[in-house]
Amino acid sequence: MAISRVIGCISSKGGIGKTTSAINLAAALTYFGKNVILVDANFTSPNVGVYLGNPVNQHNLHDVLRGKKEALESVFHHSSGIKFLPGSIALKDTRKIDHHKLTGVVRDLDGHSDFIVLDGAPGLTKEALSVVKALDEVVIVTTPEMPALTDALKTVKVCKELRKDILGVLVTKTNAKNPDVSLKDIEAMLDVPVIGVIPEDRAVKHALVSKQPVVASHPKSASAVQYKKLAADLLNLKYEESIQTPNSSFVNSFLKWMGFKD
Ligand SMILES: Nc1ncnc2c1ncn2[C@@H]1O[C@H](COP(=O)(O)OP(=O)(O)OP(=O)(O)O)[C@@H](O)[C@H]1O
Ligand SMILES: [Mg+2]
Repeated sequence: MAISRVIGCISSKGGIGKTTSAINLAAALTYFGKNVILVDANFTSPNVGVYLGNPVNQHNLHDVLRGKKEALESVFHHSSGIKFLPGSIALKDTRKIDHHKLTGVVRDLDGHSDFIVLDGAPGLTKEALSVVKALDEVVIVTTPEMPALTDALKTVKVCKELRKDILGVLVTKTNAKNPDVSLKDIEAMLDVPVIGVIPEDRAVKHALVSKQPVVASHPKSASAVQYKKLAADLLNLKYEESIQTPNSSFVNSFLKWMGFKD
């Protein structure tokens, strides 16, 4: 296989949807026929395995970083079709980890898939920065609120300093009923284009309970359709799908807010 595209879902703000987005970007790219390896690079609080069901007796990124296992043989094949390299949830494993070795892990996986998607850690710690260093292309993840946006701005600056290719901003957990910062103002503030908008969606919570990406468990939900739209755009594919949800009035107001409807 040719060189893999290495994309990270990054933001210094915690709890804004990085892991959900990394999982569903990986699932959406897989939906379009791409071979994807998702790496849980949140060394201290790895959540990918928690969200997708932690595989039993599975080797993990921490084993790889300690030289106990090869990266490729530690990749888990999930029932949804996505593949991921989980982190260890054991406290003892999160200590004495050399974060800088992540770049080497990514290099070892390179060429074995079309995409390597990295789920980043919050903050601007050495751990979080090692993820930025290991990636080539960045999706800046933020909610449409000022505290998240100020953190997103710091993340944009760091990515620019490290000369990373910023694909754009993914605005998550939007709710048409909230007085959020508009997409236009987000673009102006960060000086980066908005490449996707993911609404706050109960389907994301249901997917979490069933340990599946929402793209796989609720493929026609508003969030799943938007994640697929993002993946299609990254692949330069045309994609149209109607959203199916019991709450169509919410979807209509969401589409109006995005400017897709009058
Ligand atoms: N579109 C959405 N609709 C509803 N809930 C969402 C959505 N996206 C994420 N969430 C929820 O928000 C919470 C935080 O999401 P997530 O774990 O993806 O954030 P994070 O940025 O990775 O957090 P951390 O910084 O701790 O790693 C989770 O409970 C998740 O289910
Ligand atoms: Mg996370």
